[in-house]
Amino acid sequence: MANDWTPKSWRDLPIQQLPDYPDTQHLNEVEARLSNYPPLVFAGEARRLRDALGKAAVGEAFLLQGGDCAESFKEFHPDNIRDTFKVLLQMSLVLTFAGSVPVVKVGRLAGQFAKPRSSDTETIDGVELASYRGDIINGIEFTEAERVPDPERMVQAYNQAASTLNLLRAFAQGGFADLHKTHRWNLDFVAESAQGAQYSEISDRLDEALRFMAACGITPDSTPQLAETDFYTSHEALLLPYEEALTRQDSLTGRWYDVSAHMLWIGDRTRQADGGHVEFLRGVENPIGLKAGPTMDVDDLLRLMDTLDPENDPGRLTIIARMGADDVGDKLPPLIRAVTKAGRTPVWSCDPMHANIIKTSNGYKTRPFDRILSEVKSFFEIHQAEGSHPGGVHFEMTGQDVTECIGGAQEITEERLSDRYHTHCDPRLNASQSLELSFLISDSLRNIRDRNTDIFGGIAAAS
Ligand code: PEP
Ligand code: CO
Repeated sequence: MANDWTPKSWRDLPIQQLPDYPDTQHLNEVEARLSNYPPLVFAGEARRLRDALGKAAVGEAFLLQGGDCAESFKEFHPDNIRDTFKVLLQMSLVLTFAGSVPVVKVGRLAGQFAKPRSSDTETIDGVELASYRGDIINGIEFTEAERVPDPERMVQAYNQAASTLNLLRAFAQGGFADLHKTHRWNLDFVAESAQGAQYSEISDRLDEALRFMAACGITPDSTPQLAETDFYTSHEALLLPYEEALTRQDSLTGRWYDVSAHMLWIGDRTRQADGGHVEFLRGVENPIGLKAGPTMDVDDLLRLMDTLDPENDPGRLTIIARMGADDVGDKLPPLIRAVTKAGRTPVWSCDPMHANIIKTSNGYKTRPFDRILSEVKSFFEIHQAEGSHPGGVHFEMTGQDVTECIGGAQEITEERLSDRYHTHCDPRLNASQSLELSFLISDSLRNIRDRNTDIFGGIAAAS
């Protein structure tokens, strides 16, 4: 266990983005209540994810992480959870087909409630109020009362996370994720599109392969993996009073796990090496993510890696680069080179969302599909040039038919953003755009597979 670390040692350090709760006694009382609630995930599951990510670090698996920018109390509905899950399964199938490696599925789900903000206040028509910080902290309505941080919201977030996770577990293990049912993952409004048709083709090919395997005696009875899947949850570990209350000592190993999700990440705004968020996450054994934006330099990164992953254990740390389509070519290669030179093996993941935000003339925050695609493509090319492994992708997406990101095959225009712009924070890819993106990046994955086959084929031939 890390030196001098306790679940509350972060409290002695400077911390960013922590809300100012007006009633400290109420806050303490809620923390005490939460610390008696059952774990949402189990240490053994977090260890299994860590092992799976260890494979992604060396190119033997690929991480697909995605979901809402911010889950909300208002949009809490089983259909929304189901539809996001469906799209993640579809994307995962497309990527597995292309890459011929297992896809590790991690949702930004069942706990992704707290949001870092660039400003503490927001002004509309001359009225200045505290910023909205996510439903786990305060309300999105622009009224003074709603914007006051309320600790009871942590309990509501915990309850929503618990029932979301319950449904996800049922979907993953109860037959919904059965590889014989991949046609049913196509959402009605996607099925009509070119991506929907392309997906159906893959589904047909899979059906044929499964029939062949069944004829050879490989069925869900003999191979249960055909009928179920592993699905993991993750969120930004921003609201540390909540995370601390859900941090428990594993009875098997004596080690500490944050049992609010399988994987937790540190945001780009809270990654100060001597700050509270890094201190908290260094002591839990979950697999953790570290966002790296364009201001991350080589020394910062190496220092953070020493703190967060002192044993250089593949699977412990995922670096989620979010540089922007324009900057990724300059900013990412020096980081990869330094990390490789230091002999370290993180999972390199690409978040092509957070540095590709623009504001339209009609006042919407949006992300152009082309820029998102361009950043992911550059990410693959850079790793190819550096000889490192592109280990995964990280998207803000939803299974709903929203209009929040412009472009893509649906050609969503700035004017159409207002049709169905529902996000509580950043703009998300809709179901069709998510599927389209997975097809477009599957070309890059296929190239890697072909290259690896060449290398291994060459080695085999030479030996
Ligand atoms: C996020 O993932 O929603 C987020 C705020 O990201 P970042 O810390 O990279 O800005
Ligand atoms: Co976001």
